[in-house]
Amino acid sequence: MSHTISLPWTLESLDLDRIDIERVRHNEDLFFLLCSASFVESGSDLYTHNLVDHFAGDEALQTWLSQHWVHEELQHGRALAAYVKTVWPELDWERGFQSFWQEYGAVCTSEQLESSRGLELAARCVVETGTASLYRALNDITDEPILRKLTNHIKSDEVRHYKYFYQYFRQYREQEGLGRYKVFRALLRRVNEIKSEDSDIALRHVFTLCYPQHPGDGPEFKRITGRAQALLRRHIPAEMTVKMLLKPLDLPARVQNMVERPLAKVAEKLFLH
Ligand SMILES: [Fe+2]
Ligand SMILES: [Fe+2]
Repeated sequence: MSHTISLPWTLESLDLDRIDIERVRHNEDLFFLLCSASFVESGSDLYTHNLVDHFAGDEALQTWLSQHWVHEELQHGRALAAYVKTVWPELDWERGFQSFWQEYGAVCTSEQLESSRGLELAARCVVETGTASLYRALNDITDEPILRKLTNHIKSDEVRHYKYFYQYFRQYREQEGLGRYKVFRALLRRVNEIKSEDSDIALRHVFTLCYPQHPGDGPEFKRITGRAQALLRRHIPAEMTVKMLLKPLDLPARVQNMVERPLAKVAEKLFLH
């Protein structure tokens, strides 16, 4: 049986051969951000089966995950990798990805999922908030036309993923009778997990690829990745990030207004070290 998987945009439509290489090639920070993102996205299928298994019996959600969502995430990985390989051809992307894959695969186990389906869906909203913010920031950082187009496509996909997970989260919240405090704890857990694992592993493997002579946790690593993260921090869309993060809590408007502003001030720290 063969499926035709319909994707919202295609790699061919990006005109990768028309990249204005001189506009981006000098930017090592951007390289670190794009390459680490390409690793994480390309590793999406490592945990997809866990996620699909978690929703056994929910055919609509399982079908969306395995027929649409994962293919879109993998396309993000492919497109970002193609971009990185075109602009920085001297670096061996495949080798870097292989070493990332080995370490990342070991931490992507089903114990990492929330035990409740509703809480896992809330946590998925956190993940999609993180990626939507990341690609919006990257879109803001660069003036290279093809990269702007690519990051805009990916950002739209991530926002759509968020909406989809959110819609299912609401359904399960009813079914499981999830209270606000439980949801809050789950959101917080996933924010901390993203901070400590995914991006850190990816950045270390990108670093090793560029600077094999330095250890992946030494001062050079901290200096270079710290600089890349500072660039990202300056461009994180704080208001959007906070709104998306808080949404699953379904706070009364008065409370939401009260916490949005102070949280926006710390939003940059939410997904970064
Ligand atoms: Fe993605
Ligand atoms: Fe996504």
